[in-house]
Amino acid sequence: MAWDVRPTADLDEFKRAVGAIGHYFGGWPADEEAAQRFSSNLPLERMHAAFDGDRIVGGAGAFPFELTVPGGSVRCGGVTVVGVLPTHRRRGILTAMMRAQLDDIRERGEPIAALWASEEVIYRRFGYGLASLSCEMALPSGYSALREPPDAQATVRIVPLAESKDVFAAIYDRVRVRTPGMFGRTATWWETRNLPDPPDRRQGGGEKNALVLDLDGEPAGYALYRIHMKFESGTAVGHVDVIEAIADGPVATRELWRVLLDMDWKATLKAYMLPIDHPLVHQLTYPRRMQLRVGDGLWVRLVDVGSALSARAYGGDGAVVLEVEDAFLPDNSGRWRVAVGAVERTDDEADLAVGVDALGSVYLGGFDFGELVRAGVIRELREGGVARADALFRTDDSKPWCPEIF
Ligand SMILES: CC(C)(COP(=O)(O)OP(=O)(O)OC[C@H]1O[C@@H](n2cnc3c(N)ncnc32)[C@H](O)[C@@H]1OP(=O)(O)O)[C@@H](O)C(=O)NCCC(=O)NCCS
Repeated sequence: MAWDVRPTADLDEFKRAVGAIGHYFGGWPADEEAAQRFSSNLPLERMHAAFDGDRIVGGAGAFPFELTVPGGSVRCGGVTVVGVLPTHRRRGILTAMMRAQLDDIRERGEPIAALWASEEVIYRRFGYGLASLSCEMALPSGYSALREPPDAQATVRIVPLAESKDVFAAIYDRVRVRTPGMFGRTATWWETRNLPDPPDRRQGGGEKNALVLDLDGEPAGYALYRIHMKFESGTAVGHVDVIEAIADGPVATRELWRVLLDMDWKATLKAYMLPIDHPLVHQLTYPRRMQLRVGDGLWVRLVDVGSALSARAYGGDGAVVLEVEDAFLPDNSGRWRVAVGAVERTDDEADLAVGVDALGSVYLGGFDFGELVRAGVIRELREGGVARADALFRTDDSKPWCPEIF
């Protein structure tokens, strides 16, 4: 059956379309005001709804993002609130919504789409590839020592959430522009998503706190954190949750984390959505005690292969020919010659055979061609193809990091 999928036309449709995934959250958005708040970042026309007659039974949205990629940034559909009601699952509604959404993203001139997946099995079939890894840590208090002594120029201050937006945004942007995988946040995004602290979202913890790290008197890092204070038999057994900690440079990073690590009245410091190459691994005396858990981070889809490949930087002066296979958006398929400053279709012999999802995996630099060849998901067609491709796609950027689930 062909489902009727179209963008929402008004707030009522929008509320019902995001309500499809909201059903699984336990009934969100609770009212018009909550729907309105969510729509302040997601324009109504960027929310697709699937209709069964008059009923909306599924929804899929895409934030208009600017995403950092190696050497630059690119417009990106930030796919979000994808859901199908339990009454209508496994009938092809997600598939119909993905098609409408990817067509729309392409028509808007956004060369890529990105998302966090609730389940990693869902999106490869639509051409998304695992593009970054994301880590969690749970460090017991006795092991929070850092290898280097405190920096004499570092000072820290607690700031009211309401007054933190501008200073946080400035630091975030300095880090964002050089970190693949980070997206630009508007003032509304900060005001509606990062800084609010509704009591029903505290999960038993205290209020959301904000602190700023200054180096030589200039803001160089910030953290949002929540204390879950608990004592048993006279001993602290609670934890501190780091909601977000971002700092500009190695000293700022170390000194920002020192404050969090040294916080009293906790048994564990917990943090989530950390990059796989977090400097803390090298700064801590006991990195093993971080108990790092690695999972999938951002998934990326090249919606328009030519413009997406043209938008990122390359290293060296080589060239490589990729035979791209894209079953869901077949006009991306074919042979692409990739070189610095020139990405074009070609009839030249191909070096590598690459599915569009695997291309999403290498796009931000989270993985290289070699490891995907060794995993059997990319095939080398000409000798030296892997080495040529890896030399070209390698830049001096950090590993991709998206510090926030959207
Ligand atoms: C995930 C979800 C959106 C899938 O919607 P759906 O309409 O049932 O998906 P479709 O019928 O279009 O499925 C397309 C294919 O994907 C498979 N698939 C989809 N979701 C899957 C899942 N969670 N686990 C395993 N397979 C899944 C289907 O089996 C189908 O495979 P087939 O083509 O081989 O038959 C829906 O189950 C849902 O809303 N789940 C809860 C919320 C959620 O996880 N949303 C995603 C947020 S990132």
